Amino acid sequence: MIGHLIELAPSILSADFAHLADQVEQATAGGASVVHVDVMDGHFVPNITIGPPVVKSLRRATRLPLDCHLMIENPDQYIGDFAEAGADWISVHQEVCRHLDRTLNLIKSYKCRAGVVINPATPVETLSEVLAIVDYVLVMSVNPGFGGQKFIPGTLHKMKKLAQIRAERGYQYRIEVDGGVGLDTVADVVRAGAEILVAGNAVFGKGDAKVNAEALLEAARNQVRG
Ligand code: DX5
Ligand code: ZN
Repeated sequence: MIGHLIELAPSILSADFAHLADQVEQATAGGASVVHVDVMDGHFVPNITIGPPVVKSLRRATRLPLDCHLMIENPDQYIGDFAEAGADWISVHQEVCRHLDRTLNLIKSYKCRAGVVINPATPVETLSEVLAIVDYVLVMSVNPGFGGQKFIPGTLHKMKKLAQIRAERGYQYRIEVDGGVGLDTVADVVRAGAEILVAGNAVFGKGDAKVNAEALLEAARNQVRG
């Protein structure tokens, strides 16, 4: 059933880093309600991006929740730094967490919302023992590491499965999708059950971030109504 609140979480990975505050403000004016921050370490993923100092600056530039997606090895070592820098939501990859329950509880101990992320090749079943305690599940619809990649349709069934498990077991987590979300794919992800839509290239790639955000949200909400 589609009846949930849809939120747009622009990924600043595709923004102009020299004008980050302005870019976030534009996306916010277009209806974005969460700021997605992609943290990459050059080990778990083949790219390096940003860390706690940028989160700290962003914290002063926006009132929206900061959703820190940690694509890093040894996340336990850095969770405190991100929380203290101002992260509101912190997600970690199932693939790097040997003690996933402990890591999720560590995030919660900082009063942040705790999310778990699965790569395209990782099944939902690997999360069965943590679904009761997570605040959100992030389904990667590209292999993490870069913005502007092509959406992988084979990941849609995982959003559906997560919605189904939640309904059956009365869990509370929200479903987030990340990678290749744009005007051409937004209907599919919303119909599959995604509620928090991460979009980098589709918001900041070209044109006006406000207009792009509005168009994406409009297309997403049309699915909910339709
Ligand atoms: C990919 C990142 C994504 C990325 C999404 O590793 O986790 O958040 O920025 O970018 P688009 O929307 O351009 O695929
Ligand atoms: Zn991300």
